[in-house]
Amino acid sequence: MSSQEQPTDTSTAESTILEVEGVSKRFGGLVAVDDVSFTLDQGTILGVIGPNGAGKTTLFNVVNGFLDPEEGSVRLNGVDITHADPSEHAKQGMARTFQLVKPFGPLTVLDNVMVGSFLKTGSRKEAEKLAMKRLEFLGLEEIADVPAQNITVAQKKKMELCRALATDPEIILVDEVMAGLQQEEQREILDALERINNAGTTIVLIEHVMDALMEISERIIVLNEGKLIADGEPDEIGTNDEVIEAYLGESWREQQERMSDA
Ligand SMILES: Nc1ncnc2c1ncn2[C@@H]1O[C@H](COP(=O)(O)OP(=O)(O)OP(=O)(O)O)[C@@H](O)[C@H]1O
Ligand SMILES: [Mg+2]
Repeated sequence: MSSQEQPTDTSTAESTILEVEGVSKRFGGLVAVDDVSFTLDQGTILGVIGPNGAGKTTLFNVVNGFLDPEEGSVRLNGVDITHADPSEHAKQGMARTFQLVKPFGPLTVLDNVMVGSFLKTGSRKEAEKLAMKRLEFLGLEEIADVPAQNITVAQKKKMELCRALATDPEIILVDEVMAGLQQEEQREILDALERINNAGTTIVLIEHVMDALMEISERIIVLNEGKLIADGEPDEIGTNDEVIEAYLGESWREQQERMSDA
């Protein structure tokens, strides 16, 4: 066999952490995710973009076990997790954040994050230590004892990230963590994601804040009407005609042209 004819099944390759193969998810007559396939190398930051309703969150829900797909499979480190529930995913090393943050309001920030760390340890002391470590990581330690219902949107988004990180994941799915935040807060989250990634964690990031996403992603996949329409490096995606037409818009192209002329 020549080197061009290597088998395409990479499930045994050490560097492949996630394999999504031919996944479809329907809601009645609507095909929310339509035959989507991609693989992901360990340590990558993958961006996921596409218009509202394209199927991005639904794809996360399938990958994370909240929804069962009608077709296709999801493998984590070579293990088929297609029909495993979310707590099983957490044990296997996958965590996610939610687009709509619904904290346990009366509980403190620390207790909310401990919901994550209790997936790793049964000891309250240990869970608290893990959770505090994550709160310090994102600069939330001073509000550890504040009820979650009293904190700002930006703090809630960071708390949500801490809760996911408190499970000590190998791979984390982050759904629109920067939406609605000030630029400075977005920058803090970008820095945190970079530090998380530098420590070896693979990150999949759904985001509409394009500058931030283009900056941090090594690779981007694009969904439109449930279908994967592009998969490539940020530069390729940013100049892809189909992606511009479906999502980025002509104003994006003009802005890029202005920037390259300057
Ligand atoms: N539980 C559900 N029941 C029925 N339809 C759903 C359900 N969840 C999502 N959908 C539909 O599936 C499609 C994909 O929705 P999804 O939330 O995955 O989009 P998205 O790409 O995350 O959009 P956004 O950028 O607005 O968050 C939409 O048409 C949505 O209305
Ligand atoms: Mg969504």
